[in-house]
Amino acid sequence: MGDLLKGKKVLVTGVLDRRSIAYSAARLAQEQGAEIALSSFGRAASLTRRTAKKLDPEPPILELDVNKPEDIESVATDLRERWGEVDGIVHAIAFAPEDALGGNFLTAGWPSVATALQTSAYSLQALSVGLADLMKPGSSIVGLDFDARVAWPAYDWMGVAKAALESTSRYLARDLGGRGIRVNLVSAGPVKTLAAKGISGFEEIEGEWGRQAPLGWDTADPEPVGRAVVSLLSDWWPATTGELIHVDGGYHAMGAPIR
Ligand SMILES: NC(=O)c1ccc[n+]([C@@H]2O[C@H](COP(=O)([O-])OP(=O)(O)OC[C@H]3O[C@@H](n4cnc5c(N)ncnc54)[C@H](O)[C@@H]3O)[C@@H](O)[C@H]2O)c1
Repeated sequence: MGDLLKGKKVLVTGVLDRRSIAYSAARLAQEQGAEIALSSFGRAASLTRRTAKKLDPEPPILELDVNKPEDIESVATDLRERWGEVDGIVHAIAFAPEDALGGNFLTAGWPSVATALQTSAYSLQALSVGLADLMKPGSSIVGLDFDARVAWPAYDWMGVAKAALESTSRYLARDLGGRGIRVNLVSAGPVKTLAAKGISGFEEIEGEWGRQAPLGWDTADPEPVGRAVVSLLSDWWPATTGELIHVDGGYHAMGAPIR
């Protein structure tokens, strides 16, 4: 237990099961004194409900398809009535249709690419702007990134969406900075989650990560990423926005295999 987030009210999106990066963030945020609400999406809502029961106290769950403006509006209305304000948002949402991933870069059509970009990048703007009126100076928005400086096996249009997410977070940092709202991303190493399982060829990305990261890397452990998210939600990064923090065992900083 601790009090890094004592008294803060945080919306955590993207919890499916206990492997979800957002689940780690949610659990650790509660441990650090935050009051949280989760969001659920479509048919996966029952999975999120089951997972929420593992959290203590069991948080409320709000239905949110981030691509539906009316859903964002009703989440804002709910949180205004429930809390009156929001101190933090965890954006842990990404999706690309199968034909935009897994080696289909050259054949993917615009409708699939558009879905990937809207769900995985534009949604950070949509959700942030939708809740911004509830956020006081000192509030924090944190999104989840996968290093988009380079091309990866299989990641394809999700990689392009992540590049867009990185840029989106910088423009949001610019436009919300005047209100004292910080916007940052955590660039995570590969974690075996349901979203990762949906990427055929994900093993090629994980490949040698554990061996090549100076600190090593466990693809079954989302907690280091969750910790960074919680820290960015706290008051301990008061002058940091538009930033991208790598939580990847140090992999991104190496130019060649180290072992
Ligand atoms: N797993 C990894 O290796 C890894 C690495 C770096 C970054 N990330 C990022 O972390 C975030 C969380 O993913 P995860 O790996 O924990 O997987 P996950 O499958 O547990 O979470 C993805 C979430 O996105 C939600 N989602 C998809 N479409 C949505 C929509 N239209 N509206 C609302 N929610 C929607 C899903 O319901 C799910 O909860 C994503 O942004 C992902 O790209 C993951």
